[in-house]
Amino acid sequence: MLTVTHLTKSYAAPGGTVHALDDVSFTIQSGEFASIIGKSGSGKSTLLSMLGALDTPTSGSIVVDETDIAHLSAHKQTIYRSKKIGFVFQHYNLIPNLTALENVMLALEFGGLPARQRRPRAAHLLDEVGIDADQQLRKPSKLSGGQQQRVSIARALANRPSIILADEPTGNLDSETGKKIFDLLHNLSRSESTTILAVTHDMDIAGKTDRTFTLRDGKITTNNGGV
Ligand SMILES: Nc1ncnc2c1ncn2[C@@H]1O[C@H](COP(=O)(O)OP(=O)(O)O)[C@@H](O)[C@H]1O
Ligand SMILES: [Mg+2]
Repeated sequence: MLTVTHLTKSYAAPGGTVHALDDVSFTIQSGEFASIIGKSGSGKSTLLSMLGALDTPTSGSIVVDETDIAHLSAHKQTIYRSKKIGFVFQHYNLIPNLTALENVMLALEFGGLPARQRRPRAAHLLDEVGIDADQQLRKPSKLSGGQQQRVSIARALANRPSIILADEPTGNLDSETGKKIFDLLHNLSRSESTTILAVTHDMDIAGKTDRTFTLRDGKITTNNGGV
């Protein structure tokens, strides 16, 4: 379970303080798939970076499985990220000179999996997201955008995270491919009981998730389907 309480994040900017997140509170159950919508600048990426402990909130708490990650040391934040979180980004962020297989194997290495288990597990993960044996041996530049995003999802799943944070994962894809990527995430949230928070601009896609949060000027204005 993930509980966010009175979360704020402010940035000092030349024109005055920016309240990127302004008193945000919500709870998500394990295995729920939530979409986050909102205009550019509304605080979506800031929220995901707080949940992923990539940055520290100004105030408030984020409790994941009974630990308040808003108040961890930098070292413990790193452990939390590597054990609990999988990230998926709009630009895939794959390492260009490694094959698809090697990209996933590297994540397994960071996660501490013994060397000899990495290749079979990476191949299995890539199979699961629909990347075949031939594609697994290609570098990212030899894969389509949709295929690259599948590889990045396999990488996000590598260390069996309890939460996947996806920031506009379909932002660079055509809407048909984007729907398939969301279907894939949806199936994963069901089969692995993974909690997923995904930012999207596609209302069709958002409508199919378990709940939708709407951010506006750093506040959550809609929160259907839950408390
Ligand atoms: N590192 C930063 N320094 C200053 N302002 C920031 C920083 N990151 C985000 N902001 C500001 O916080 C607000 C929310 O940004 P962001 O979370 O990126 O929005 P979104 O992802 O919804 O487009 C914006 O006004 C943005 O300019
Ligand atoms: Mg953003």
